[in-house]
Amino acid sequence: MKGLVLAGGTGSRLRPITYSMAKQLVPVANKPIIEYGLEDLVAAGVTEVGIVISPQTGDDIRTAVRSCSDRIGFNPTFVLQDEPLGLAHALKTALPFVDGDDCLMYLGDNLVKGGVADVVRDFETHHPNCQIMLSPVDNPSSFGVADLAEDGSIRHLVEKPAVPPSNLALVGVYLFDGTISEAVESIEPSARGELEITDAIQYLVDHGRTVRASIVSGWWKDTGTKDDLLAAQHLVIGELDGKIEGEVIDSEVRGEVRVGRGSRIVDSRLVGPVVIGEDVQVTRSTIGPEASIGDGSDIADAAVEASIVMDGSTVLGWKIRSSILGHNTKLHGAGPAGFVEMTLGEQSEVLGD
Ligand code: DAU
Repeated sequence: MKGLVLAGGTGSRLRPITYSMAKQLVPVANKPIIEYGLEDLVAAGVTEVGIVISPQTGDDIRTAVRSCSDRIGFNPTFVLQDEPLGLAHALKTALPFVDGDDCLMYLGDNLVKGGVADVVRDFETHHPNCQIMLSPVDNPSSFGVADLAEDGSIRHLVEKPAVPPSNLALVGVYLFDGTISEAVESIEPSARGELEITDAIQYLVDHGRTVRASIVSGWWKDTGTKDDLLAAQHLVIGELDGKIEGEVIDSEVRGEVRVGRGSRIVDSRLVGPVVIGEDVQVTRSTIGPEASIGDGSDIADAAVEASIVMDGSTVLGWKIRSSILGHNTKLHGAGPAGFVEMTLGEQSEVLGD
């Protein structure tokens, strides 16, 4: 079986962060989202992995994927999709790589607790033409949605319906055999101008192919928006074990806390779950719960709660909550007395009074 990770697209719902970086590289608990999916593929025994990239962010994705492929244990092949014309278009573009084999397609901005090994095993046991995973959600109109018959078979699949037929969203993990090529070659663009993978799977249903659906047992997250990202970090970070490799001086540490090599925590409180990267300085500050601080950051006289702070950032005298700071952002001067919530793109600078 081959793997296909979709890491193109525009990431428009995550601006300003995605003005200068690929959404699949945004760190959750200090690890790029795409790495979680790649680890899942390898854990399920899939090591030949195609990565669909875009002209805009392809070079960064290539660099990031190459830097983790040996450690995780897969062989990447990059497939350039010239335009973000939909998930089925991405698969269509990658058909020469898939070459008629079974294929596990994983959206590069999705996180699935417990990975995909079980669903791969299920697919290999029953060998349907396609297998999808479903998860109950509160906002089905934001996803592909499945309408199931009483016996669990699929009656109908619809992409982002205004009036959803159920609350069962399609998870961004799909298994296909070679019959999917006919489907992606045959469907027409949707009203929003994309070739929808949901329509390709509906094509299989309409043409009497077997499409098997299973409901995911653990949590699943699509990290398309800021709130989704912070929710994903909340889920991931809560499962990590603590490990202190840096120095913690005159500070209080509560709960599961990770502090990377070369970091110094002085006169501060770390309230787990917290992940602090390497070479970070934290002075007279409170970090956590549910905060991640990227490598080389400097936090002083500040508080950071339920936030993602990327590498090289400086937070001096500010209290932030439910925030995302891009790489090398700077908050300094006197911040407001209370907590503030913000999303700042890379290299941004905010100067208080
Ligand atoms: O997350 C699950 C949902 O993913 C499903 O429920 C939907 O049925 C499915 O259409 C998809 O919806 P999204 O609107 O969330 O897809 P998004 O545009 O965010 O793209 C998902 C990933 O695929 C993301 O990593 C970007 C990449 N992509 C996207 C497009 C449109 C590509 O590589 N090429 C593309 O052309």
